[in-house]
Amino acid sequence: MTEFTGDYFYKTFTERSSDLYPDRYTKEYCDALAEMANRAAKLITEKNILLLVHNYQYPEIQELGFAVGYVGDSYGLSLKARDEKGYSTIAFSSVEFMAETAKIINPEKKVLVPTRASCSLVESVILIKILKWKEKNPTGKVVSYINTDAKTKALSDFICTSRNASKVVAHVRTNFPGDPILFLPDKYLANVVISELGLKFGDLDIWDGSCYIHKELNEETIDKALFDHPNAELLRHPECGCTQECIITALRQGIKIEFVSTERMITKARESASQEFVVATEPGMVDRLRRELPNKRFYPVSKKMCKHMKQCTLEGLLECLEHDDDPKYQIILSKEILDGAKVAIDNMMSII
Ligand code: 13P
Ligand code: SF4
Repeated sequence: MTEFTGDYFYKTFTERSSDLYPDRYTKEYCDALAEMANRAAKLITEKNILLLVHNYQYPEIQELGFAVGYVGDSYGLSLKARDEKGYSTIAFSSVEFMAETAKIINPEKKVLVPTRASCSLVESVILIKILKWKEKNPTGKVVSYINTDAKTKALSDFICTSRNASKVVAHVRTNFPGDPILFLPDKYLANVVISELGLKFGDLDIWDGSCYIHKELNEETIDKALFDHPNAELLRHPECGCTQECIITALRQGIKIEFVSTERMITKARESASQEFVVATEPGMVDRLRRELPNKRFYPVSKKMCKHMKQCTLEGLLECLEHDDDPKYQIILSKEILDGAKVAIDNMMSII
C-alpha cells in the first residue's frame, strides 16, 4: 500500500476543494492527517477490518477508504457489508444508523463506529406513533427509509434507500394490493416516489420528516445556483426540499425530472455530455465528484455541511480502530431488534 504524505494531502485537498473546506487544510494539519491515515491503514490491514466510508465524510477519510476499504452511498455500503466475506470486524465511518444497518445485516460480526452521530431524519421518528398507526391499520405496511434507527427498522416491513424507494413501494403495492402504506420519515423522498409511480398524494400515509440540510436545497436556492452557472446540469438528491415544487413544475411542462442517490450522481455526471454540474446534496459529495471526474466542474447549491456526518474525524476513527474491544465503539443491539430489523432489510434486498 502506498504511504500517505502531508504533501499529497495538502496539494490534493487545497487544489480540489479549498472552496468547500476553507482554512481546514493547512500544511501542518495535512502532515498530521497523513500520519494518522498511515497508522489507521496499518491497523485496518493488521486487524483485518472492513472499512466502509460514506460519500459525505471528510476527504482524508475518503482517501483512506479508497486505499483500504470502500467509499459509497448508504445502499452500496450495505451491499459491501453483506457481500464482503473474510472479515470479522467492520468499521463504519458515518452516522450511527449506517453502522447499525451493517450490524443488522451481520449480527455475528463486530461493527465499530467512531462516534454516535445522529441524523435529523432519525430524530424525527416517534416510535409510539408508528405503533398507533399499525394498530389502526392492521394490514398496513410500514416502509422506512434507511435513515432510521434500528428500533424503527424493527417496527417496519420494508426498508428503502434513496436508490430504490420507488421500486420498494411499487413492490408493496403489487404484492399487497389495497393495504395502507406508511412511508417514513422523509416527506420529500415520498414526493419523489409519488411522482415516479404516478400515485396520488392520498395513496401513501406520509411522515412529516425531513433532512435539515436537504430541506434548504429548495426551489429558490437551486434556481439561484443554476442562475450563477447557466450551462450547468443539475444533480439532485431525492431528500431535497424542492421535490414537490419541482415535480409539479415538471408535470405542468410535461418534462421528466430525475432524483439520484449520492453514488448515482457520479454515474449520471460521467455519462452526461455536460461539463458543469450544480450539485444539490451535502457538499462532501462535491469533493467526491471532483475526485472521480477531475475534468468536469461541480458547484454546490450550498456549502453547509451536515453536522452529524462531520462529527466523524480521522482522529476519532483512529481512536476507535486502536480500541476496537471497547464497547463504546461497538454497535450492540438486542436480539429482538436485530431480528425484527433484519426481516425489513432482507425484504428490501430480496426485491432489488
Ligand atoms: P445516500 O443513500 O444517497 O448516500 O444518502 C444518505 C444520506 O444521508 C443523504 O443525506
Ligand atoms: Fe441525515 Fe441529512 Fe445528515 Fe444525511 S445529510 S445524515 S439525511 S441529517
